[in-house]
Amino acid sequence: MEDQDFALFIARIKEKTAIDLSQYKEAQMKRRLTTLRMKHGFTTFKAYWEALQSTPKLLDEFLDRMTINVSEFWRNPTRWGALENRFMPEILKENRSPKIWSAACSTGEEPYTLAMILDKLGSLERSSLLATDLDAGVIAKAMKGEYAERSLKDVPKDYLQSYFSQRNDAFVVADKLKRAVRFKQHNLLHDRFEGPFDLIVCRNVMIYFTDEAKQFLYHNFSKALRPGGLLFVGSTEQIFTPSQYNLETVETFFYRRTP
Ligand SMILES: C[S@@+](CC[C@H](N)C(=O)[O-])C[C@H]1O[C@@H](n2cnc3c(N)ncnc32)[C@H](O)[C@@H]1O
Repeated sequence: MEDQDFALFIARIKEKTAIDLSQYKEAQMKRRLTTLRMKHGFTTFKAYWEALQSTPKLLDEFLDRMTINVSEFWRNPTRWGALENRFMPEILKENRSPKIWSAACSTGEEPYTLAMILDKLGSLERSSLLATDLDAGVIAKAMKGEYAERSLKDVPKDYLQSYFSQRNDAFVVADKLKRAVRFKQHNLLHDRFEGPFDLIVCRNVMIYFTDEAKQFLYHNFSKALRPGGLLFVGSTEQIFTPSQYNLETVETFFYRRTP
């Protein structure tokens, strides 16, 4: 009964929003949504669904909570060090005007980190930087570019001085970074991919998806890369047998599209 209640909810959400919850790991997703549903006192997903339909605020909250939006600048600093010192210079050698995509960018820390690195390397103006997320709320926050101190803990000192100004309790990213990033709402499991990209950064979202959804995405990321282009994944998201997606490992968490 309970399984059926949840299965029906998944089907209805897909119809209404094109978000397919069945492509997310079920136990995790069910736990998160059950907590949310019970917070509002609904005993079944059917009752919760009916309320979602008539109360836009509840639907917004649902869309906000079904995903986890935590992010940081320079998340896993040694990986960003590898990108800054090795891979980005290599990319720029190949293409002076690289096309880069930060997929599932949450509140913008990741694309702004990319923008800072590109600017330090003197290539920001020539680069195209796309940043996307499923959640329109985080995209709006990203465009504002205001952050609490805790998300800046790994920003190198010289970057902090060059690219942030303090406004009351918030740290605001420089306008030149904001101007350089094109933010857009985009569902990785549903929407068309742009491309070809020199670099795709997709970190800390794959962990929420089923194995089938992951495979679908790795194929599509690979197709959206130019041959020689790089895919940079999160630090718990190693790809098993990358060759099945025409990818090869170049360093842990960095994969290159083969010709
Ligand atoms: C934990 S955050 C990762 C943020 C950033 N990439 C990082 O590593 O710090 C996961 C993000 O994935 C987004 N997301 C979840 N499902 C998605 C989907 N189907 N398409 C696009 N983004 C999705 C969420 O909205 C959330 O902002």
